[in-house]
Amino acid sequence: NKVVLAYSGGLDTSVILEWLKDTYNCEVVTFTADLGQGEELEPARQKAQQFGVKEIYIDDLREEFARDFVFPMFRANAIYEGEYLLGTSIARPLIAKRQVEIARETGADAVAHGATGKGNDQVRFELGYYGLEPGIKVIAPWREWDLLSREKLLAYAEEKGIPIEGKKEGGSPYSMDANMLHISYEGGILEDPWAEAEESMWKWSVAPEDAPDKPQYVELTFEHGDCTAIDGQAMSPAGILSKLNELGAAHGIGRLDIVENRYVGMKSRGCYETPGGTILLKAHRGIESITLDREAAHLKDELMPRYAKLIYNGYWFSPEREALQAAIDQTQQVVNGVVRVKLYKGAVSVVGRKSDTNSLFDERIATFEDDAGAYDQKDAEGFIKLNALRLKLQSRHRS
Ligand code: ARG
Ligand code: SIN
Repeated sequence: NKVVLAYSGGLDTSVILEWLKDTYNCEVVTFTADLGQGEELEPARQKAQQFGVKEIYIDDLREEFARDFVFPMFRANAIYEGEYLLGTSIARPLIAKRQVEIARETGADAVAHGATGKGNDQVRFELGYYGLEPGIKVIAPWREWDLLSREKLLAYAEEKGIPIEGKKEGGSPYSMDANMLHISYEGGILEDPWAEAEESMWKWSVAPEDAPDKPQYVELTFEHGDCTAIDGQAMSPAGILSKLNELGAAHGIGRLDIVENRYVGMKSRGCYETPGGTILLKAHRGIESITLDREAAHLKDELMPRYAKLIYNGYWFSPEREALQAAIDQTQQVVNGVVRVKLYKGAVSVVGRKSDTNSLFDERIATFEDDAGAYDQKDAEGFIKLNALRLKLQSRHRS
């Protein structure tokens, strides 16, 4: 039998690779995804080869990730618990999907991942696997083995001749996960929710206080709710995201330090950098503000926390996510136009928005000046009176 392992090439997943062979006496197929994490993937291939892996998959999934996962999620303005932009959550279903495909291609009957038994990622991976391939066998080494301390893991690595430098390049003491939407940091001193992260932890962005003293203006073009061009230049979804990352990182935008509720029940402290996503979210809300009908927009805002939670909890491939997505996508038909944002010392502000084809903003009606009969102020009197009726009835019973 054969197992497809989600393999980063780092220390932990290398230990898993050897452990799988030892424990299950099985053949291992490794799968490494390029999700725009900005890491060389060739070393992962070389390592897998060193460990005698015959079938090595290294796939560039950047466009698929941006187009079919990140962009649909941003149409919803999804944010978990008011803060988290779901950078890790949205990547897991894609990894799971590709792993299942590779299992089919290689005739493997099992899949394995390197997430611990304490987190969200195990749930996301495995709900993905089972949702796409109900009969698949799932191996989660962290829940099975006894290498629970760092020493035990290192001793095992030593015994198997696995180079120790691997995982924590740059000597980062944090548990990190990166892709083109974000980079996350957990563990280390962050386990004390009172302790501030040191400046050197942040890998992508400059500190807001070190960002340029001059603001930068950027124009984002939207079509059907997706950003398709920056400063008039058309780009692919992955192109858009990496360009916005570059701009945001240079201005210290998108840093976050939060305590969140994991699906498994614990509270967990994490720091996140989401420079491009933070700009995109703000700009998307900007274009929606002039193109979306009020009630359609408010309905979206009511559904959003549900949608965000479902992604956080790992239910991307679920009927409820698909139903919500269909509703959200339907609203985005009219979300076309251009938003102008200003980037300055950690902040992104919308300073202009326009839509030639779909604007619902009517200057004639909104003006504080004479509107020449566009809006009859007398209509407001009856509107208010009828709305006040039940308040008047209620007031009789107030003391
Ligand atoms: N807490 C975040 C989430 O649940 C980030 C998880 C990071 N995962 C990791 N393997 N380091 O989405
Ligand atoms: C892990 O436990 O593997 C990482 C954190 C998480 O999944 O939430």
